[in-house]
Amino acid sequence: MRVLGIETSCDETGIAVYDTDAGLLAHALHSQVAMHRDYGGVVPELASRDHVRRVVPLIERVLADAGLRLADLDAVAYTQGPGLAGALLVGASVATALGYALRIPVLPVHHLEGHLLSPLLASPRPDFPFVALLVSGGHSQLFDVTGVGEYRLLGDTQDDAAGEAFDKTAKLLGLAYPGGPALSRLADTGTPGAVRLPRPMLASGNLDMSFSGLKTAALTLARKEAGGSATESLPAARKADIALEIQSAIVDVLASKALAALRQTGRGRLVVAGGVGANRALRERLGAAPAQVYFPDLAFCTDNGAMIALVGALRLRAAPQGDHAFEVRPRWDLATLTPGNPARAA
Ligand code: KG4
Ligand code: ZN
Repeated sequence: MRVLGIETSCDETGIAVYDTDAGLLAHALHSQVAMHRDYGGVVPELASRDHVRRVVPLIERVLADAGLRLADLDAVAYTQGPGLAGALLVGASVATALGYALRIPVLPVHHLEGHLLSPLLASPRPDFPFVALLVSGGHSQLFDVTGVGEYRLLGDTQDDAAGEAFDKTAKLLGLAYPGGPALSRLADTGTPGAVRLPRPMLASGNLDMSFSGLKTAALTLARKEAGGSATESLPAARKADIALEIQSAIVDVLASKALAALRQTGRGRLVVAGGVGANRALRERLGAAPAQVYFPDLAFCTDNGAMIALVGALRLRAAPQGDHAFEVRPRWDLATLTPGNPARAA
């Protein structure tokens, strides 16, 4: 069975075809990063309009790369949420129209379930059960995962997500959006231990996280170092020291909480997913953990269509036989999913 996946929840148009027997057949992505850069973040209305422009040509390209025609598809999966309402509506309406025209099932997919299961696209793929550390732009969560749709929340961020902490602290150092990759590159040239920042909630005794205090501490430190000038005007070497310490603090907290989750659940497998999973320091630290650790390929850490097509394929049996009505869910809690039909999840 071949499933077309359509991801349009934020600033990336991602399209892919996943075959339940042969695996991923083709995928393509258009990133809007360059378009949003001048604004320092994603502009929702520009994002929606760009998805409209990109989605059909990308579907045509992916089908051509896979050597398929529309009629060869058995189902269409799309990101139903969470995300930007207007951006989500583009993928939802194109997927539903295709499903109607081709008379095939249309599967609404939870974006974070896509991230959570994206390590299943890699080889070797993890078996269930596993602990998942989900670290994206908007989420820092730990789950105990026992099967598709069986996600027990173990710990959550109390405020900013890890990706958000990377992005916001990068901004105060004058780095371009999106800040995570830029801050990580700058950190490579920093001197370890040159400055010191707190590791929030490291000793909290639970699996929850918090990163807004780190952001404030980084701002206070940068202001002190700048001595009244703008923090963006700090010397490059000092910025690199601060960037390295910010990254180390985030990695320390994430790694410590992930290891505590493994101990608490007794699981031997850890899956790391979401955009921050692309961070090299985090990968190196967790790669040395006393567990089998699985990461998605770098291309599938950040938003992509392959993870949506994959979840569609895994949930094909629960496909709703609908009337081709559709809705999007800009806010949608992953812990409410069940192994059954996601469209009917609370
Ligand atoms: O999963 P994702 O693509 O989008 C969401 O669903 O949110 O994650 C995007 C986040 C951004 O905050 C970005 O700065 C961060 O992932 N990110 C990184 C790296 N690559 C992406 N953070 C640190 N190091 C990286 N290499
Ligand atoms: Zn994402």
